[in-house]
Amino acid sequence: MQELNQELGFFDAVEARRSVRIFDQEGSFDHEKVQKCLEAAILSPNSSNLQLYQFIRVPESSPLKDPLAQLCMRQKAATTARELVVVITRRDVWKSRAKANYNFILNSNQNQPEKKVKQAGNYYKNLIPKLFGKYPGWSLIKKLIAWWVGMRRPMVREVGETEVRISVHKSAALAAMTFMLGMKAVGYDTCPMEGFDSKRVKKLLDLPTGSEICMIIGCGKGLPEGIYGPRFRVPSSELIVVK
Ligand SMILES: Cc1cc2nc3c(=O)[nH]c(=O)nc-3n(C[C@H](O)[C@H](O)[C@H](O)COP(=O)(O)O)c2cc1C
Repeated sequence: MQELNQELGFFDAVEARRSVRIFDQEGSFDHEKVQKCLEAAILSPNSSNLQLYQFIRVPESSPLKDPLAQLCMRQKAATTARELVVVITRRDVWKSRAKANYNFILNSNQNQPEKKVKQAGNYYKNLIPKLFGKYPGWSLIKKLIAWWVGMRRPMVREVGETEVRISVHKSAALAAMTFMLGMKAVGYDTCPMEGFDSKRVKKLLDLPTGSEICMIIGCGKGLPEGIYGPRFRVPSSELIVVK
């Protein structure tokens, strides 16, 4: 077993990480490590750098922890977790995030050619609003435009509302993965869960209407019996294809 003061390197953490469903209830759990790993997770790549997600921390001391674990279908990975991290998407804050990105480029590129600021303006003030704006029928119109433009030249096709939601979830999930690897690196275990009642969780945590739950991550020091079986993966040749 890995000592808590011993951090693992990247490949060791990848190898050692498992979804652990039963966490130790006896020893101490350092919630600061969760914060540290979440701070690392927000360095993950994300679409257009809009950072449209949030981590909602629900530690064991919170009165919401037990009700939340119940809503994770009473999975042991939730009931025994010392902290639950709810990864939510925040598609709804795209305007302020686009503005923050534009302002950052504007203020940090004072010695850069005007072209760069203009490009950023075009991206964050023109393209992103077109992609994220919500008007009646707009999703279909965007898809038709993509199809029309795509007849002539290569064009991003995933512009409809569903694809925008998927894109936001992708970025949230990447950050979640960085978090889980970080937790393994510092000696803790995690279990990502999508087995929960999203409607009730949203109500319990008073989540914004425009948010969606990407996953809920149980955290703690895993017990050996919390690993339900040997790791199974199909042959890598089925998953890695060279063309
Ligand atoms: C998006 C997602 C949702 C998952 N939901 C659950 C879940 O609700 N309960 C659970 O026990 N495991 C859940 N898992 C864990 C997977 O079952 C697990 O990652 C997979 O079996 C591979 O095992 P490993 O993580 O130990 O390598 C989920 C994993 C992911 C990525």
